[in-house]
Amino acid sequence: TLPPNHAQKLLAWYDRHHRELPWRVSPAAAKAGRRADPYHVWLSEVMLQQTTVQAVKPYFAKFLALWPKVTDLAAAPAEDVMAAWAGLGYYARARNLKKCAEAVASLHGGVFPDTEEGLRALPGIGDYTSAAVAAIAFDRRSAVMDGNVERVISRLYAIDAPLPGSKPLMKARVAELTPADRPGDFAQAMMDLGATVCTPKRPACALCPFRDDCLAFAGHDPERFPVKAAK
Ligand code: ADE
Repeated sequence: TLPPNHAQKLLAWYDRHHRELPWRVSPAAAKAGRRADPYHVWLSEVMLQQTTVQAVKPYFAKFLALWPKVTDLAAAPAEDVMAAWAGLGYYARARNLKKCAEAVASLHGGVFPDTEEGLRALPGIGDYTSAAVAAIAFDRRSAVMDGNVERVISRLYAIDAPLPGSKPLMKARVAELTPADRPGDFAQAMMDLGATVCTPKRPACALCPFRDDCLAFAGHDPERFPVKAAK
């Protein structure tokens, strides 16, 4: 028999239950060939590291109003960028943001590279951001891993090995699940599922597209995952 088609189940769920976010293109529009602006995706993903969606929304709008293009951000005085960032925290992110915008402007004529490797070579862009922008903006088959995805994948496969050591295994699982068709929507769907259904406490398993496949659900204790190394 064929393995369960996890990606198809998740994408069908995402078609109905995706969150509408200012930097996101709806699945219907994505199917019609529309892509999100790489600048918007990059800016939102940097802001979303360690900050909630609700807190990010007004900052995202403010940055785009002040600097509509990445070349505008590159040309902005650093102190203006830091002032606009005030309140988001983790100020190293703002300094890296500015450095990355300058590199896109000066090395790439204001056009973001369209591969994970090309993005990863930019200053201030790490594994997470390069994979997220490649998948979401360019529909590349990159394995995107954040805390939400770690929770979903560790529950689906009841991964007993503790974080952070289990990260490579989890990433391999995500990579094999990521479909050739709609990989960008798949990445966003994994994050939405983790944020809205497969939550840290009291996950809404009744609403989950992976309910019939999830080993943690079958074991009656999804909250046990992800397992974390003792401090
Ligand atoms: N959290 C961080 N990035 C996200 C994204 N692209 N979609 C949903 N949640 C996210």
